[in-house]
Amino acid sequence: MDILEIKDLEKLAQKKVPKMFFDYVNSGSWTETTYRENVTDFSQIKLRQRIAVNMSNRKLQSKMAGIEVSMPVALAPTGLTGMQHADGEILAAQAAEEFGVPFTLSTMSVCSIEEVAKHTKKPFWFQLYVMRDKKFMARLIDRAKQAGCSALVLTLDLQIMGQRHKDIQNGLSTPPKLSPKHLYQVLTRPSWCLKMLQTKNRYFGNIVGHVDEITDVRSLASWTSEQFDPQLDWKEIDWIKKRWGGKLILKGILDSEDAIIASKTGADAIIVSNHGGRQLDGAPSSIKVLPEIVDAVGKKIEVHIDGGIRSGQDVVKALCLGAKGVYIGRAFLYGLGALGKFGVFKSLDIIKNELDKTMAFCGRRDVEDLNRENIYKEHPISNY
Ligand code: GLV
Repeated sequence: MDILEIKDLEKLAQKKVPKMFFDYVNSGSWTETTYRENVTDFSQIKLRQRIAVNMSNRKLQSKMAGIEVSMPVALAPTGLTGMQHADGEILAAQAAEEFGVPFTLSTMSVCSIEEVAKHTKKPFWFQLYVMRDKKFMARLIDRAKQAGCSALVLTLDLQIMGQRHKDIQNGLSTPPKLSPKHLYQVLTRPSWCLKMLQTKNRYFGNIVGHVDEITDVRSLASWTSEQFDPQLDWKEIDWIKKRWGGKLILKGILDSEDAIIASKTGADAIIVSNHGGRQLDGAPSSIKVLPEIVDAVGKKIEVHIDGGIRSGQDVVKALCLGAKGVYIGRAFLYGLGALGKFGVFKSLDIIKNELDKTMAFCGRRDVEDLNRENIYKEHPISNY
């Protein structure tokens, strides 16, 4: 099978990854409207084709939050990555490192901060949730520092969890339960099973053994409801920022008013995000609100985006609308589930080639030159 686009990796991942974990990736909350619109709203945007423009010597290198990147695309923090493929976080971090883009390790990862650090050479980024247990949070921040992480991505949109029907139907847990249904799902994916049996990374590695008094770490939903702090407010950011002392990126901004508050925290960047459509169903897609957020705060703080990016064309559109960095989640997870480290590399390579050629067709040679002029403004046919 030729692997030409992210969709091909998705099809392959579906054949390789047990249903409960494949579904975990392919879920949005409730009706999944926001989850779907994250993708479909990209296709509403049209690019201007320019011709007879010099296309030679193109440049994709850029910076995200002041950090050099080979293209302005990072791997988003995604929970349970190590359940898409054994040692998933390590493999994805290694692929990102070789590609020259940031890898962001989720708090809810299977491989721990220390495990990923042990198997990589360059610094990765760490994503943190605001939790009730401030001592545990402080320890996590210190562990990320100790591991040499070069940016902290603080997630602000998941104090409680949006309901994802598929996870409930599948009885999702880490590691999987051993009921007949779960056994069937796992045993019909033998290569996944074999690799999983060969690793010790099968639990929430940042948590198990690091927190006392937790009763159920197998389930993301129960862990969240026990541990995440529903009383989060903007004041928390100050002590986190001080404790961390490095680059800070605030994730989960979807509203201009929140963006203005975020821009005053002294953070280095914000990520326009609706958590991949997994939280507030009925919220607008990330790409839809990007321009208004860039208008509100783009001169004061760097604006990044995630949600719905499945191609280099999507990356171009986000950059044209003012994002300085774009994160892929599902797009790299499909690669990981399909082909491990090579698959993550492949997903980045597909996106890089699409980004490069699309930028050229738009008449640009430097990724940093893409702007709103490259977006085609609709003239409805009925107006003629
Ligand atoms: C965790 O961040 C999730 O959305 O499942």
